[in-house]
Amino acid sequence: MKVTKAEIVISAVCEKQYPNDQLPEIALAGRSNVGKSSFINTLINRKNLARTSSKPGKTQTLNFYLINNAFYFVDVPGYGYAKVSKKERQKWGKMMEEYFEKRHSLKAVLLITDIRHEPTVDDLQMYDFLKYYELPVLIIATKLDKVSKNKRSQHVKRTEKAFQVEAGDLVLPFSAETGEGKEEAWSMIRQYMEV
Ligand code: GTP
Ligand code: MG
Repeated sequence: MKVTKAEIVISAVCEKQYPNDQLPEIALAGRSNVGKSSFINTLINRKNLARTSSKPGKTQTLNFYLINNAFYFVDVPGYGYAKVSKKERQKWGKMMEEYFEKRHSLKAVLLITDIRHEPTVDDLQMYDFLKYYELPVLIIATKLDKVSKNKRSQHVKRTEKAFQVEAGDLVLPFSAETGEGKEEAWSMIRQYMEV
């Protein structure tokens, strides 16, 4: 996809702040610091439009990025960061549920995992949560640049096995560093938006 325009429209914390133009949305999900914001930047060829950090917990709100005036990437705060208070975790849960449960313009969720690691219990719960709402999910196994070429398929298989992906969902190896998997990701996103 040729991205000619990408801009942040709103950082929302509740439903009434979401854009109301009915354009399709593709949301991210995944552990804190796994590379959700970096994924968006790589896809739209921007270094830091979605703010990233080497420290977990950078993204705190639902950030709606309008792409080519045609659809939104919705960047979300990550889960699974130990140094978060119970109160903050509850706030996070409420914000995420409010979005994923009722958002009609949400077409698919890109669940980002680190290809180097076995998916966590939180990852598997997130997948089940999204499937409960019958959302199509593309699992992006990112940081592919960090594993040697001869170990790649082994790591992908481990991820597929852990998630027991439903028919229609798949695991896509990706790297925000090298851009590997970028065209495949775009091709999937295009398909989600056509439905
Ligand atoms: P939160 O907003 O805190 O939930 O994090 P996030 O999931 O948005 O992660 P972010 O994109 O901020 O990236 C976290 C760190 O991982 C940064 O230091 C990135 O540079 C690094 N990173 C992200 N993707 C890749 C990748 O594909 N390869 C490598 N080597 N590093 C990556
Ligand atoms: Mg982020």
